[in-house]
Amino acid sequence: MKNNTPIIRKIIKTEHFYLKPFDSVKDFDLSYNLWNDEDVLKSMECPACSKQDIVEKLDRYKFWMDKFGFTNFAVFEKNSDDFVGSSGMSLFHDPDNNRNQLQPINSSKYLNSDIELGYVLHKKYWGKGYAFELAKACVEHIFHNYSDINRIVAVTVVNNIASQKILSKLGFQFVADIKSKEYGKEKSYVLNR
Ligand SMILES: CC(C)(COP(=O)(O)OP(=O)(O)OC[C@H]1O[C@@H](n2cnc3c(N)ncnc32)[C@H](O)[C@@H]1OP(=O)(O)O)[C@@H](O)C(=O)NCCC(=O)NCCS
Repeated sequence: MKNNTPIIRKIIKTEHFYLKPFDSVKDFDLSYNLWNDEDVLKSMECPACSKQDIVEKLDRYKFWMDKFGFTNFAVFEKNSDDFVGSSGMSLFHDPDNNRNQLQPINSSKYLNSDIELGYVLHKKYWGKGYAFELAKACVEHIFHNYSDINRIVAVTVVNNIASQKILSKLGFQFVADIKSKEYGKEKSYVLNR
């Protein structure tokens, strides 16, 4: 008998969650809702996303997945298959080389970009240690599977204390207070292997 159950590519598993690449079509609405969630936008101090923004975002996520095998993943709760949010790694967007204040890395494989850690959860999942659980799993995944990646960067807006605590607990070091046209005032962090 033919089994029509779709195969889910669970790239990372943690105690409570599994992380898989976003499907640009099937997961479009999940992504659109996440990136237009008022609480999420307020915490990140970023504007709402249009449908076109989401198309472009999911295209970038697919490109990173296809090229590197990592990306900002879609996160689901293991027990319920409920969509939780997104966590993972991306190429750091730093067009003017001023967002992390580190010496630029010289790696054509990663398009001379740093690898950035990220996590965004729907509010019902906040305050339970889950972002830390996800961030830790992502960092371990990178350092375990990519011997050519020796540092991971992260940035948070100044007021995002929860995110800054997560980074400190993971061993990230504060690098600098930064300011860019595109993102405003942020704090940058780095974790060396
Ligand atoms: C930021 C975010 C990821 C935190 O997720 P979370 O699952 O609530 O974080 P955790 O439960 O792992 O908590 C991390 C730490 O921050 C603390 N914390 C949580 N909310 C806090 C708040 N509002 N103010 C201060 N500290 C807070 C927790 O107590 C914990 O510290 P502890 O380990 O010393 O107890 C979540 O709020 C979120 O998804 N926000 C929207 C997207 C976002 O801002 N992403 C980060 C972009 S850099």
